Amino acid sequence: MQTKQLQFYNIYADTLVQLKAKLLEQLHQLLNTLPQEDGDVPAEHLSCRIKSPESVCQKLKRRSLTPTPEIALQNLSDVIGIRVVMRFIGDVYHMADQIRKHTGWEVIRIKDYIAKPKPSGYRSLHMIVRVPFMCGLFSSIQVEIQLRTIAMDCWASLEHQMRYKKHIPNATLIGAELLRCAEEMASTDLTMQTIREMIRSNSSQDQE
Ligand code: GTP
Ligand code: MG
Repeated sequence: MQTKQLQFYNIYADTLVQLKAKLLEQLHQLLNTLPQEDGDVPAEHLSCRIKSPESVCQKLKRRSLTPTPEIALQNLSDVIGIRVVMRFIGDVYHMADQIRKHTGWEVIRIKDYIAKPKPSGYRSLHMIVRVPFMCGLFSSIQVEIQLRTIAMDCWASLEHQMRYKKHIPNATLIGAELLRCAEEMASTDLTMQTIREMIRSNSSQDQE
């Protein structure tokens, strides 16, 4: 996002940009602590965004709150949103454990849409985490970390583009088809996890 677009965040803009970079670095470090075998990459990708002022203002308006940066930082948990895309479901939960143990961060809430998918079929593990943020009125803010597999990410980005928060014709039929795709992809995720475990147990037997 352009610096000009961050003007809404006023005195908090620079600190938000610094926090975004720091969180990305810290999450990269945590990814490197996950159990890995030779040739494994810890995550498929990691991204972080500062919520656009338009989106912040819309969300505050929906909640009948005044659109100021202080009110946004106090009331919204996704002014900074991070997405960590892992290859396997097991890795999603390993990474969640590392985030939970990270000194200086406090996990406030976990929404496990993998164990309990949304009616749309959406799957991800959302963690709301309080992190240090020394600026103006604040010493900490909440951020949202979304952890998911490649398959979950693929579904969510296609569905988001086609449908999320949009009014579309044939919504019932399209919704049912998207749900079917989500279920097929979830089943593939489980199979992939099983295949990986089989490969790992074979290679550990070979080493014995
Ligand atoms: P928002 O107002 O959208 O932030 O929702 P919320 O505060 O109720 O939080 P929730 O955990 O339900 O969703 C937060 C984020 O998850 C969204 O901003 C999306 O990135 C993602 N998400 C949730 N539901 C869906 C869905 O059905 N489809 C897609 N593609 N993404 C979703
Ligand atoms: Mg959101």
